[in-house]
Amino acid sequence: MLELKEIYFTVPDKEAENGPAEKTILNNISFTFEKGKFYGITGPNGCGKTSLAKTIMGINKATHGKIIYNGKEITEMSITDRAREGIAYGFQHSARFKGVTFRDLLAIAAGTDDEGKLMDILARVGFCSLDFLDKPVDSTLSGGEIKKIELATTIARHPGLAIYDEPDTGIDLWTIEPMVKLIKRQITDYETTTIVVSHNKAFLEAADCLVLIKEGQIAYTGDLEGAKPLLSDLSVCRYTDLCEGEIDAQCYR
Ligand SMILES: Nc1ncnc2c1ncn2[C@@H]1O[C@H](COP(=O)(O)OP(=O)(O)OP(=O)(O)O)[C@@H](O)[C@H]1O
Ligand SMILES: [Mg+2]
Repeated sequence: MLELKEIYFTVPDKEAENGPAEKTILNNISFTFEKGKFYGITGPNGCGKTSLAKTIMGINKATHGKIIYNGKEITEMSITDRAREGIAYGFQHSARFKGVTFRDLLAIAAGTDDEGKLMDILARVGFCSLDFLDKPVDSTLSGGEIKKIELATTIARHPGLAIYDEPDTGIDLWTIEPMVKLIKRQITDYETTTIVVSHNKAFLEAADCLVLIKEGQIAYTGDLEGAKPLLSDLSVCRYTDLCEGEIDAQCYR
């Protein structure tokens, strides 16, 4: 179980005209993620989803508030210690590693170099091991391939808490459903508490609970049906009262 208590994340506001000011990116987030459940975090671009995911992983340090994982306070813990506690994270923009192969990455994640096991993990994310096992995880990989290997390494670790930030970016239509199934199987087999940040309906429908973020705050928690009226509301620009619906030079501020 993961508890977020009054989490704030603020950064210096570089655009402030008169001296130092702060920009509040996460604004008083309190929520409990139950063990073995599937959560979908969604909301408009720039609302704070990645910031929240990074704050849970310790990549961002919460400016205020407490994070408690399995009864232990982890607010001040380093990323590595959180990983040791069983928290895994898949980046929105995945890293590439020159000179490291799929075999190396998977062996580190799974803690074994048993070729059969590594091939099985690759097969689960739709990779042919003959083609991929000794391929480098470098800049020659496509966007979808890099997301798949990241999913494979997370799955291989059987984490207690898995956070995936937009795992479907660049993934072809035929792989999304198997990806959802794979994540769900991980939940059934290992009771992995799963948080998927996504705009994709397939993930949002599969989730036990949706967390809708708006301007750094939780705007809704519950099922997808209940979120629908709010989702359409969020796509309306908050400046329409200024321009009265006319597109002008200010539209993309
Ligand atoms: N370290 C930082 N310093 C300054 N601003 C930041 C920092 N991290 C995030 N932001 C800003 O906070 C806001 C939320 O960013 P975040 O990446 O969390 O959005 P998001 O909801 O994940 O968006 P998207 O759907 O586009 O991925 C953005 O305006 C971003 O520019
Ligand atoms: Mg993001």
